[in-house]
Amino acid sequence: MKHIEAFLYRDGVLHADGVPVPQIIESVGTPTYIYSASAIRTAYRRLEAAFSPLGVRFQYAVKSSPNLHLCRLMHDLGAGMDVVSGGELDRAWLAGARTADMVFAGVGKTDEEIRSALDGRFHTLEGVPGLEEREPERRGPVGILNAESISELERIAYWGNELGVRPRVCLRVNPDVDPHTHEYTTTGKEENKFGIDAPLIPDIFDAWGRERGVDLVGLHVHIGSPVPTVEPYAEAVEALLNLIDELERRGSKIEVLDLGGGWPMNYVEEQVPPLEDYAERLVPLLGPRVQNGLQVLMEPGRFIMANSGILVTRVQHVKKGRAKTFVICDAGMHSLIRPALYRAFHFLWPVAWTGEAPRLLEDPGLPGLETCDVVGPICETGDFLARDRQLPPMGRGELVAIFSAGAYGMSMVSNYNDHGRPAEVLVDGDRAAMINERQPLATVLATEHEARELW
Ligand code: LLP
Repeated sequence: MKHIEAFLYRDGVLHADGVPVPQIIESVGTPTYIYSASAIRTAYRRLEAAFSPLGVRFQYAVKSSPNLHLCRLMHDLGAGMDVVSGGELDRAWLAGARTADMVFAGVGKTDEEIRSALDGRFHTLEGVPGLEEREPERRGPVGILNAESISELERIAYWGNELGVRPRVCLRVNPDVDPHTHEYTTTGKEENKFGIDAPLIPDIFDAWGRERGVDLVGLHVHIGSPVPTVEPYAEAVEALLNLIDELERRGSKIEVLDLGGGWPMNYVEEQVPPLEDYAERLVPLLGPRVQNGLQVLMEPGRFIMANSGILVTRVQHVKKGRAKTFVICDAGMHSLIRPALYRAFHFLWPVAWTGEAPRLLEDPGLPGLETCDVVGPICETGDFLARDRQLPPMGRGELVAIFSAGAYGMSMVSNYNDHGRPAEVLVDGDRAAMINERQPLATVLATEHEARELW
C-alpha cells in the first residue's frame, strides 16, 4: 500500500510489518485493531527531524490511541504525555511517564481532576494493578496545566493553595482562526467552546501575575484536528507571537508555547501537504524566539498513530439490495465511529488480495469492482464504514482491513447494542503481541448487575 509502508500485500495477503494479518486474526478473532510499532517509531522520528531546529518537546496526545502499550512505546521514544482527564493521567503514569512530563488539557476539568493533576494521583483509580508499584516520589504536579477559562484558573489556584504547590499554567488561547477542517473538530474559532478569546489574555496575565498562587508560564493553542493546510497554523502562530510580545511589553515572561496537535496525515494519497511543509513555514517564525529561550511544545496524536494502525473486520453477510450491495461486517460505528460521526473516509480493502496493489484513493480504479456500502451490525442507518465504495466482490467470512484507523479508532469505541470492545494487537517486525483482550460482555454488565438501594 503506497504511503502505508507497514501494511503491505505480500503473497496474496495483507501483512502487518512481517506478520500475515490472517495469522493474527486466526488467534484473536475480529474485530481487531492491529498497530505497527515500526510505523509508530518512523512517524515519531519524522516529527522530531522536521522540527529539530526548534528543539520541540513532544507531548503524545493520549486520547488519539490510549492503549497502555502504545503510550509506553511513545514514552520510550522520549515523548511526554498530553492528557485530558484524570483517567488519562493514571494511564500515562502506568505507562511510565513522569507527571512532570505531562501537560493536562481539557475544557471541563473537574475539581477532582485538578487536584489529581497537582498531587499526581487520580484517587478514584486507586487499586488499579500497577498504579502503586511506581515509585511514589516520582509523582507530583503535572508539568503544565492548560487552563481554558478564568473559572478554571480560579480552581487551579484554589487547589494549588490547598496542596501547597504552585501550579505551572498555560492559558489556552482562542485565536479565532479557521483551520478548514470538519466543523466538529474545529476548535480555534470564536464560536467554539475552547480556549480564552485572545484579546482577554493580557488582562488575565496582568491580574494574575505571579502573586495569585499560580505561575502563568505560557500560552497554548490548538486550532483543530487535522489541519489540512499550512496557513492556518502560521496564522495562529503569528497571532500567538504578537500576543507574547504584548505580554512581555507588559512585564510577563513567556517561557512556553504549546502548539497543540492537528498535524497532517493522509487518509487519501497526497490529501494534505507533507509535514515538512508545515515545519518549513513555522520554523523561521519560531526559530528566533527559541533562540531567546522559548520552549515549544507540540501535542501530536493522529500524525503518529493514524496510519500506524488498521481495524480488521469479518464480513458476516452480503446482501444484494435493489439499490446497491451491502457488505455487512462485525465492525461498525461501535468499533470505528469516524465515518458515522464526521463522514470520514477510511480506505478499506479485502485482506486476501492477489491483484494489483490498491492505491489509497477513493476510487482505486481497478477492473472488476462493484459499488458497495460496507456497514456494521448496529441498528442505525448511520452505521456505515464506507458508502458507495468501489470494491472487489466480497463474500461471507472474508476479512476486510480498514486503513488509517490507528488514531481515534479504539479511543472512541462504544458498547452500543451490547458489543464488547475490539481486541488490540501490536506488531513489531515478525513478532505480534496481544495488547488488549477483547472485552467480555460480563465487564459491561458488572456495574449494573445488582441494584443498590439508595433510599
Ligand atoms: N491537543 C489538543 C488540545 C487536542 O484537542 C487534540 C485533539 C490534540 C492535541 C491531538 O490532535 P491530533 O494531533 O491527534 O490531530 N476524534 C476526532 C479528532 C478529535 C481531536 C480532538 N483533539 C477524529 O476522529 O478525527
